[in-house]
Amino acid sequence: MVYVTRVEHFNAAHKLWNPAWSEEKNKEVFGKCANANFHGHNYELHVTVKGEVHPDTGFVFNAKTLGDIMKSKVVDIVDHCNLNIDVPFMEGKFTSAENFAIGIWNELVNEVEKNGAKMHCVKLIETQRIYVEYFGN
Ligand code: NI
Repeated sequence: MVYVTRVEHFNAAHKLWNPAWSEEKNKEVFGKCANANFHGHNYELHVTVKGEVHPDTGFVFNAKTLGDIMKSKVVDIVDHCNLNIDVPFMEGKFTSAENFAIGIWNELVNEVEKNGAKMHCVKLIETQRIYVEYFGN
């Protein structure tokens, strides 16, 4: 089994806010991420797929195909957008990095598996000091 990772970049705005809480409680829990008028991140997205090396190509998965899938299913949908407002697959969810990584996994998994590999990990880097990883469960 070999693991192949493709990296893509995008930027997007969001706000973390629980409408059931007071403004004070939101600020206490989410800090600057609760700023009323949103804020942005330069996200880095690492998607790792796994499989056996195909004898005809030497590839587990064509890295360009993986990049094309990441772009069409995720980057083109979220880049320069507001995750709280503009992105159908995040509708009704807190736009935390955790939920965003799960949403990205769900957008990619069918296309990746249709092309003959298994999803292994979505790693979403939100800031230089924070990233999350999702392995499908
Ligand atoms: Ni944030």
